[in-house]
Amino acid sequence: CGIVGYIGLEDTKEILLTGLEKLEYRGYDSAGIATLNGGVKVSKVKGRIAALREAVDANVHSTLGIGHTRWATHGAPSVDNAHPHQSRTERFTIVHNGVIENYLDIKNDYLENVEMNSETDTEIIVQLIEVLNNELQDVAAAFRKAVNLLTGSYAIALIDAEDEDTIYVAKNKSPLLVGLGKDFNAVASDSMAALHVTDQFLELMDKETVLLRRNEVIIQSPDGEVVNREPFTAELDATDIEKGTYPHFMLKEIDEQPFVIRKIIQKYQNENDEIKLEPEIREAMKNCDRIYIIAAGTSYHAGLLGKQFIEKLANIPVEVHVASEFSYNMPLLSEKPLFVYISQSGETADSRSVLVQTKKLGHPALTVTNVPGSTLSREADYTMHLHAGPEIAVASTKAYTAQMAVLAILAVDTARAKGIELDFDPMQELGIVATAMEALTDQKEELEQLAREYLPTTRNCFFIGRGIDFYVGLEGSLKLKEISYIQAEGFAGGELKHGTIALIEEGTPVVALATQASVNYSIRGNVQEVEARGANSMIISMKGLEKDGDAFILPHVHDLLTPLVSVVPLQLISYYAALHRDCDVDKPRNLAKSVTVE
Ligand code: G6P
Repeated sequence: CGIVGYIGLEDTKEILLTGLEKLEYRGYDSAGIATLNGGVKVSKVKGRIAALREAVDANVHSTLGIGHTRWATHGAPSVDNAHPHQSRTERFTIVHNGVIENYLDIKNDYLENVEMNSETDTEIIVQLIEVLNNELQDVAAAFRKAVNLLTGSYAIALIDAEDEDTIYVAKNKSPLLVGLGKDFNAVASDSMAALHVTDQFLELMDKETVLLRRNEVIIQSPDGEVVNREPFTAELDATDIEKGTYPHFMLKEIDEQPFVIRKIIQKYQNENDEIKLEPEIREAMKNCDRIYIIAAGTSYHAGLLGKQFIEKLANIPVEVHVASEFSYNMPLLSEKPLFVYISQSGETADSRSVLVQTKKLGHPALTVTNVPGSTLSREADYTMHLHAGPEIAVASTKAYTAQMAVLAILAVDTARAKGIELDFDPMQELGIVATAMEALTDQKEELEQLAREYLPTTRNCFFIGRGIDFYVGLEGSLKLKEISYIQAEGFAGGELKHGTIALIEEGTPVVALATQASVNYSIRGNVQEVEARGANSMIISMKGLEKDGDAFILPHVHDLLTPLVSVVPLQLISYYAALHRDCDVDKPRNLAKSVTVE
């Protein structure tokens, strides 16, 4: 979910709506704003910000307001469950991200006689603030007390109908920043949502509360101490987050991949063509006895390939874990573990929850992320930046290939630091990858045709591969299911026959990747098995390994880096399959780009 708030001299409506549009990647099943001018005016809709824009009364003017775009956790997407929520008398209005874990306790202990309007945990907070304010007759004190009673994750902005000078702000675990300006201040869950008004931001720490006024920002620690903090300048450029002439962000981001790879080469190399890396990261890699990669979704898939690079090149054992499982199912750790958090956004709550635990245990952490100022980046000891530029489409593309490129560089650097001789120049090989990616993004018509031919009305699709091709198949299947809603699964080539082959029917599409000479023969054997059961197989092979009848040939790149190249046609085929089905490519149903709840 996303939050934005503004207090200043300008009319807030447009500022809030523009901010929410930039935050739509965080969820988009319902949205709302509340503005204050002599009284609070709330507008909410089920659906997108575009619908909210239409619903907002153009005649309402106000210089203070809060807004929200939602990804449903408690309660289905609906107008009632959309934020902002109000207290019983409508004096207090709130927007909230996160999950309040003790909301039932709060309801029982403090709100027995209060009738609820929605099914959300958020309404509990605003009702609680009203009840506490009736008792204390001091809004700031009631706000602080309420926030101290909450357990779970929250980013909150609250307005009081009787006070046109303040927005009350609090955060714990969920990201939230204060945006600073002349005669105005803003609050946003991400700097992107306030870049149209400022590039100066203040970080907030967990459990802090803030009084936000036109000319004043008062940050307080949980025990009421005033905190002073220096602002930082957001490096993003507002034009980076525009689509330009592209019909979809996803297509733009697929096309940007060769540039991103070249940028990574440039950023991770010094004048002497040596790998440029913080010496502390090098030391941490050299000194650990095992690496634990923690990630979710596409980043997890990049982690699986990162393991291959690090184990094969740097000879360090690597485990890759899904963040949401690791939290409560921690394996036995080695003596000197190093945790590597891979996250495009740097905000994924599941990964952050593991980071909090491993930090408590005293283990070093490196975050590999596209957003250097993000929570995971700030809280880890070290950060490696992806330099991919903002990724807006929910389905990750350029961040995935950037993650692999950065992990490959890290693996080579570690190998060299350990004195391992390598016959592999990562920068040169990544340069070849960038050129190959360019050739692939030029073959859109051919790939659109493949999507039309193989995936027109199918309800399912399987991806098979062996070795590193298997991991790319997992990512290919995730892309396809995320945006086209075709049920797609990735399997190790040899595993399909141990059960899933029962699902193959006449015409079931099976995409097979064949980029590795060592398994070219056996993966083709697996293709025969599925074809014998009626599958319609699409073989994507590497130049030099192709056979007659293969559907698509990839330009040749180094064996280890084939995933960066083989994923590109899979991204494009998914894109076109989704387009052919009239799906909303950039904002698929039920998903959000950055999931800041566990
Ligand atoms: C969400 C997105 C996925 C993404 C995952 C991890 O579920 O829909 O596309 O891969 O989060 O995100 P991260 O920002 O941590 O890489």
